[in-house]
Order: sequence, then C-alpha cells, then structure tokens
Amino acid sequence: MTKETIYYVDRLGTDSLKWDGQKGVFGEEGLLPLWVADMDFRVPQSVLDAEKEYLETGVFGYYRPGIGYYRAFQAWEKEQHGYEVQREWIRFAPGVVPAINWLVQMFTKPQDAVMALTPVYYPFLHAVRDNGRKLACCELKNEAGRYGVDMEAFEMAIVQNAVKCFILSSPHNPVGRVWSKAELKAMLDVCKAHGVLVISDEIHQDLTFDGHKHIPSALAGDYDDMLITLTAASKTFNLAGCQNAFAVIPDAGLRAVYEGFTARMHIEGGNPFGYIAVEAAYRHGLSWLEEVRDIIWGNYCFVKDAFAAALPGVCISPLEGTYLMWADFGQYLEQEEMAEFFQKKCRLAVDYGAWFEGNALTHARFNLATSRENVEKAVAAIVANLKG
Ligand SMILES: Cc1ncc(COP(=O)(O)O)c(C=O)c1O
Repeated sequence: MTKETIYYVDRLGTDSLKWDGQKGVFGEEGLLPLWVADMDFRVPQSVLDAEKEYLETGVFGYYRPGIGYYRAFQAWEKEQHGYEVQREWIRFAPGVVPAINWLVQMFTKPQDAVMALTPVYYPFLHAVRDNGRKLACCELKNEAGRYGVDMEAFEMAIVQNAVKCFILSSPHNPVGRVWSKAELKAMLDVCKAHGVLVISDEIHQDLTFDGHKHIPSALAGDYDDMLITLTAASKTFNLAGCQNAFAVIPDAGLRAVYEGFTARMHIEGGNPFGYIAVEAAYRHGLSWLEEVRDIIWGNYCFVKDAFAAALPGVCISPLEGTYLMWADFGQYLEQEEMAEFFQKKCRLAVDYGAWFEGNALTHARFNLATSRENVEKAVAAIVANLKG
C-alpha cells in the first residue's frame, strides 16, 4: 500500500460549521475550534478523483447508486470488522443522527422509555426528548478516567423504566471506550431478555487505537431480530457534509417498518456526491486512514505528556476509540468556571461535559483530528491560563 500524504486545510472562511459557525453556540466567532467532530484534513485523493470525474459529466440529475457502492461497504465491513453484511440488509439514511431519530419514532411510542449510557453524545439525548419519549439514563462507572458499564445498574434502569429501546455508542463518544465483546454481549443479552430494541451507533468503528479492536454488536451474539446497526464513512474519511449513512437491518420485519417509514417520507436515497465519495473512500482510502490514525494518536500522546508534565491533575480518559479526547479538569476548575475558562481565557471552542449529561460537569471534549500546531496552541493556552 502506498503512503498517502495528509494535507491540513485551513477551513476558516469555507462555511465550515466548526470554524465559521461558532456564534450560534458560543455567542462569538474567532475561537480555536476543537468542538464539532469532523477533521481538518483533506479527504483521500481517490475521493477527490471520483468526485471530479462525476463533476465532469456536467449533469447532476436524479441519481441511483450502483451495486459498487454496496459492494464497497460490504467489503469494508468484512475486511475491517469481520461482519458479513448482506446486500438486502442495507438501507440508506441521510446521516446517523437522522436515522436515530427515525428509529425512535418508528419503534417506540410517545412516553416510552429510551435508554442511553451517560455521559453520551448529546444528540442521543435530544432524539429521545425531542420525540416526546422518556429518557432513561444509566451512568457509566468512571474508574480513574476509564469508563465501564455497571451491569446491575444497566438492568435495573431497563426494568424500572420499562425501557423499550437502548441507543448504544460503540465506540463510545465521548468517553473513548472501545467496548469488548464480553461487554457488548452482557449489554445485548440483558436487552434481549427484556425485549429491548438496540440501536448500535458504530460511526466511530474505524477510529480505534493502541491495539483496541472494534467489535460490531451484531457479532457479539445472536441479536438479529432486536438490533439495528448504524454506521457511515463520514467520521472515518471526513465526509460528514455528504450526508450518507448506512442502516444495517438483518431482520425482515424491522426492515419492513424502516422501509414503510422512509417511503412515507420519500427519503429513500441521497445525493450523488455522497454515494460517490463513500464508495471511493471504502475502496481506496485505507492507507489515508492509517496515516490519519497515526496523526490523531500522535496528537493524543502529545497532549497526555504535556498535561502530565504541567497539569498532572487533569484526568484524561484513555483514547481507545474516536478522535475525541475526554478530560476532567475538576482538580483545577469548578463547573461554573468551565465556559469562562475555555472560551474567554483560552479562546477555545470545546464541547463541555455538561452537554453530555451525567457526572461530567468539569469535563471537556477535544477534537484531535487537526494539525499538531492547533493542538499545541490549545495545550499552551490551557497550561498558561491554569498555571498563571
Ligand atoms: C456517536 C456519533 N453518532 C453520530 C454522529 C453524527 O452522525 P451524522 O453526521 O451521520 O448524523 C456523530 C458525530 O459526531 C457521533 O459522534
């Protein structure tokens, strides 16, 4: 495999949400953005080439993906994760978050309880609340920064709330865990025993580090009739703007419900640019991904070492998966000081722990998929302002 050069792109002024869209959330622009989970790296050359070829046709009419799109996804799942996804199980979604919202609407009723492990990627919480469902949270166990599932609390939360649906983040955003097969099996077995549908969001599946290996929930046991897996090439290859995601639904009954719902909304397919990017990335993007993973891991090690030397009280969760570093500043900051510190003093846009629910009010989440220079600037600002 030939090495691919990774190019950092200065995205300021490109209508990027992360760089140019801070005002809505932070009330101002001009912060160094380590929030929104996309990368500041140019996509693989193969993706650009495929898009250029399509652009040259000069016609952007109605589009239908060829079989190559599905085959590229199937080959990727099989080769990278050992999951043999059958063609008929695959359905389109214009994003994993829209799919989560749809699934909540399809498979639960108003006031039904839907569970998540907190702290968690906050659109899970919004998907439950915004659809008029009851949120049941099961707090993850935090052992010196490494998180785990308290299986007794997990089952109790399901039983006490009569949970109908569980939304799992695997790997888990924001705590960075890559769940082991035993952990997945324990959670899915309890869900199965209590008739709980599991939505397994595996969008970060390809971003694992330090020997950790993602296990698809579908391979942890026999869960085909109660499991829907959502994934995408968008985090892996920095294609989030293309709005192209996969719902993998092995069960024909569940699939029929999905099809009925998407047919009623007439959203059964996406735009050509998404399909073309995804197919090219899965076919030819592996060496790019390997380079990017090295950059992210290097950034993580840099931050860890810098904080260990200058601010040893910052508790950084081990980065097993995702490119999002989760750190607790509770030894230095009160929860009321978080926004003032990061935004006003350090001039950084980060995701605050409070957004993720659970016991995380002095945490912050940092996106490491950027240049070392940006990471160094961020660390320098934090160290200077905490020590100074
Ligand atoms: C766990 C998780 N799910 C879903 C998404 C977003 O998915 P999409 O852009 O496909 O809606 C993200 C983005 O950060 C994420 O971290």
